[in-house]
Amino acid sequence: MSAIRPAAVVVLAAGEGTRMKSKTPKVLHELCGRSLVGHVVSAARELEPEHLVVVVGHASERVEGHLAERYAGTRTAYQAEQNGTGHAVRIGLEELAPGGALDGTVVVVCGDTPLLSGGTLTALAATHSADGNAVTVLTAEVPDSTGYGRIVRDAASGAVTAIVEHKDATDAQRAIREINSGVFAFDGRLLADALGKVRTDNSQGEEYLTDVLGILREAGHRVGASVAADHREILGINNRVQLAEAGRLLNARLLEQAMMAGVTVVDPASVRVDVTVTFEPDAIIHPGSQLLGVTHLGEGAEVGPNTRLKDTAVGAGARVDNTVADGAEIGADAAVGPYAYLRPGTRLGPKSKAGTYVEMKNASIGEGTKVPHLSYVGDATIGEYSNIGAASVFVNYDGEAKHHTTIGSHCKTGSDNMFVAPVTVGDGAYTAAGSVITKDVPAGSLAVARGQQRNIEGWVARKRPGSAAAQAAAAATEMSGDNN
Ligand code: UD1
Ligand code: CA
Repeated sequence: MSAIRPAAVVVLAAGEGTRMKSKTPKVLHELCGRSLVGHVVSAARELEPEHLVVVVGHASERVEGHLAERYAGTRTAYQAEQNGTGHAVRIGLEELAPGGALDGTVVVVCGDTPLLSGGTLTALAATHSADGNAVTVLTAEVPDSTGYGRIVRDAASGAVTAIVEHKDATDAQRAIREINSGVFAFDGRLLADALGKVRTDNSQGEEYLTDVLGILREAGHRVGASVAADHREILGINNRVQLAEAGRLLNARLLEQAMMAGVTVVDPASVRVDVTVTFEPDAIIHPGSQLLGVTHLGEGAEVGPNTRLKDTAVGAGARVDNTVADGAEIGADAAVGPYAYLRPGTRLGPKSKAGTYVEMKNASIGEGTKVPHLSYVGDATIGEYSNIGAASVFVNYDGEAKHHTTIGSHCKTGSDNMFVAPVTVGDGAYTAAGSVITKDVPAGSLAVARGQQRNIEGWVARKRPGSAAAQAAAAATEMSGDNN
């Protein structure tokens, strides 16, 4: 590895990406939870280069801010005007060395090829140094080469003679299926020298990096090409159709890795995962599910259908059905849903339950505790093996501040309870159905907090005479043999 450790990787990310038709700079668009430039920087880091520099320009503050936040320590170089890929590389190299001349290998990657793997970059750098080339370009045979630079080879020897951009190509050249991926390994000194000779006499009036190949070849240096094993890896994103296509390919790659590692994915086409999601063997993902951010599925955890989990840890053997969760921890063998909403700070203990139409936020639920139906649990701590009755609300907000509710272990609270925080229910306590709990309940007591029931007999006969209700009531009275 160290033998091919490059002196530098230069990532080109200054372009606006007009074909995206977006206010967001192209390289900040996301694929499986990571920006386009983030994918490229991650792959580049696998090479362990001495220097890594990202050339920024369009919306540079946003791109720089993103890099500083997510890829701390990444250097940037500022290209004020986007005068072409050759110009961009020149600016990147000048950031690293006076005159831009570095000893050793310089790898150049475009910020818009997110599927490129670290392995492919490593293989390119290895071929480059093994063959002693001045430049090695990563190429690919693609089914549709529209828009890409074409690799022109010498008919007799097969050697690469030039790269011709789509816009500058003749009809015969446009028929070529082998394209420039935009990824190169260069000899650092020869690159700096050749960049000084690149001209702008082309259809876009730009300094093309691709012209460096012809310049080096004419000067008698070795120009090599390495054909990518899988052309899909070098897909460049110029528009949103390609963004969606790359997302589909990357997602399929991630799910394939998960399946090979022992995860069952019932319908891969309907499941989306981010690059940061991790799994244990025997996890099962049902159709229509999205796993985002730093979500983790424990061994045998079963998720879906139709579930969206973000930054959520699912314990071994837990079952999560038709649920949305964000920033939640779900304990081993817990049951969630169908139709639960777990918001940030929810922690479900082992064997606990957050059932149907249950919403939780900033709530810790102990082992074996169940909140089975139609409830809101916010800002609460509940002990072990308690049961919260249906349709309960943890009334946490007084209009100005949030307050906490604490419920002990082995409690049984009635249906339709309001817990008006701050309030505490002691261990082993019961509450009656329909109670509004505003005062602390001591351990082991029964709290009843509701109006007494009063039956006003004969009210319907007096106030609604002749109505269907009155007739039904009269018939019922007759049948019961009550003649009063
Ligand atoms: C480029 C290549 C083309 C190749 C294709 C692969 C050139 C001239 N063309 O074309 O041969 O097939 O990539 O995807 O190199 N950028 C800058 N500064 C600039 C211009 C571009 O930083 O002044 C950056 C862009 O942000 C982008 C990358 O370089 O990340 C490529 O630029 P783009 O305009 O997308 O080039 P393509 O037309 O796709
Ligand atoms: Ca491109």
